[in-house]
Amino acid sequence: MSPAPSQTSASPRHALPSYLDPSHLGPWGIYLQQVDRVTPYLGSLARWVETLKRPKRALIVDVPIEMDDGTIAHFEGYRVQHNTSRGPGKGGVRFHQDVTLSEVMALSAWMSIKNAAVNVPYGGAKGGIRVDPKKLSRGELERLTRRYTSEIGIIIGPTKDIPAPDVNTNGQIMAWMMDTYSMNVGETSTGVVTGKPVDLGGSLGRMEATGRGVFTVGMEAAKHNGMRIEGARVAVQGFGNVGGTAGRLFAEAGALVVAVQDHTGTIYNDRGLDVSALLAHVEQTGGVAGFAGAEAMEGDAFWGVACDILIPAALEGQINRDNAGRIQAKMVIEGANGPTTPEADDILNDKGVLVLPDVIANAGGVTVSYFEWVQDFTSFFWTEDEINARLVRIMQEAFAGVWQVAQQHQVTLRTATFIVACKRILHAREMRGLYP
Ligand SMILES: NC(=O)c1ccc[n+]([C@@H]2O[C@H](COP(=O)([O-])OP(=O)(O)OC[C@H]3O[C@@H](n4cnc5c(N)ncnc54)[C@H](O)[C@@H]3O)[C@@H](O)[C@H]2O)c1
Repeated sequence: MSPAPSQTSASPRHALPSYLDPSHLGPWGIYLQQVDRVTPYLGSLARWVETLKRPKRALIVDVPIEMDDGTIAHFEGYRVQHNTSRGPGKGGVRFHQDVTLSEVMALSAWMSIKNAAVNVPYGGAKGGIRVDPKKLSRGELERLTRRYTSEIGIIIGPTKDIPAPDVNTNGQIMAWMMDTYSMNVGETSTGVVTGKPVDLGGSLGRMEATGRGVFTVGMEAAKHNGMRIEGARVAVQGFGNVGGTAGRLFAEAGALVVAVQDHTGTIYNDRGLDVSALLAHVEQTGGVAGFAGAEAMEGDAFWGVACDILIPAALEGQINRDNAGRIQAKMVIEGANGPTTPEADDILNDKGVLVLPDVIANAGGVTVSYFEWVQDFTSFFWTEDEINARLVRIMQEAFAGVWQVAQQHQVTLRTATFIVACKRILHAREMRGLYP
């Protein structure tokens, strides 16, 4: 990495909000390090950088519901709007027993970065409830979703903040959120959430959008790097929405998907798996384990598989200091959010592995969410071909911009994406000025 162009940095005096414990910063701490890393590249905009280091608004709500057995249970819910300089907040809602304020803050900030990186007119937001939804009945889940939506209803809306699905939330939950918000405002408001079922104002192409975006940036990076996709060996962790779609598109482009890992097991075929047959097997059985056209492999060996492209598309923190050194891929495309720890990132960089970071690689989902929102406003719906063509164009343009900045400053694509995004956000802030 060449020396930074300037060392202008804002005073650390205001860096931490008092409501966070400095000794347990969690994911927010990782995000702050990422911002610190790009601050020297922001030039005169560094004057505004503190605005990125605290969320604009963080709402904590109590979500009480009556359980099926007649007892009353209380759950903790959050909605955080990190930044709205470039437009309304946008980001998913996560239902998970380990959700914390720090995590939702970091995820909301990463949405600000992602939305600015692909240049869709949104700020960043995220929400969550501390709950294990698998322990709830369908009725309890619906009551929880509706009460949460009502509680955060004071800050969401089609022009304020637009939630979407994330871990353990789906189209049905978006339908309940849309209905609850609509009941409260007295009109059908489809644009309040995205990721809805197509029959309720959802968009064609949304289901596949993130995987298609992963594939698109992978193809662009391969062009820049002189890597041939035909015959390239691909390993995919997570064969759900993102990993399954990306794996299929790479296979259709002539790559060999040689290894796949999911929560049921790891499978390998040196000549390339039959991806269509594997998708059908996963649909039928719930996972890749037991697939006839492959041999089973020990889970940890997955990371050392001989491959050209590795796509982590499952969980956070999967590529870490224990396995990063064994990775043989020339390119890692982050389908999941936060799959690479900062230590592993440095190890991969030292080895010359090209990492396409989540904040650009998995931005296809929010891009088609943006299309869904636009279609809802106009009540005019596009064809799937139009949607895919527009998605590919946006992803290609965004990737080209990030690539150029990485070359210019000789930095990683992650830092380059942060530079592009933070500059866009802070430039918008500067032009808007401070109110009053
Ligand atoms: N779906 C989207 O539009 C979208 C957008 C941006 C980012 N993401 C991120 O992509 C990742 C995957 O999301 P998805 O929508 O494909 O989810 P999904 O539920 O459809 O698939 C998840 C996959 O991960 C696998 N998995 C779970 N635990 C695992 C483990 N311990 N080891 C190996 N594999 C495991 C599951 O078996 C499954 O194949 C998440 O990090 C999500 O936040 C998704």
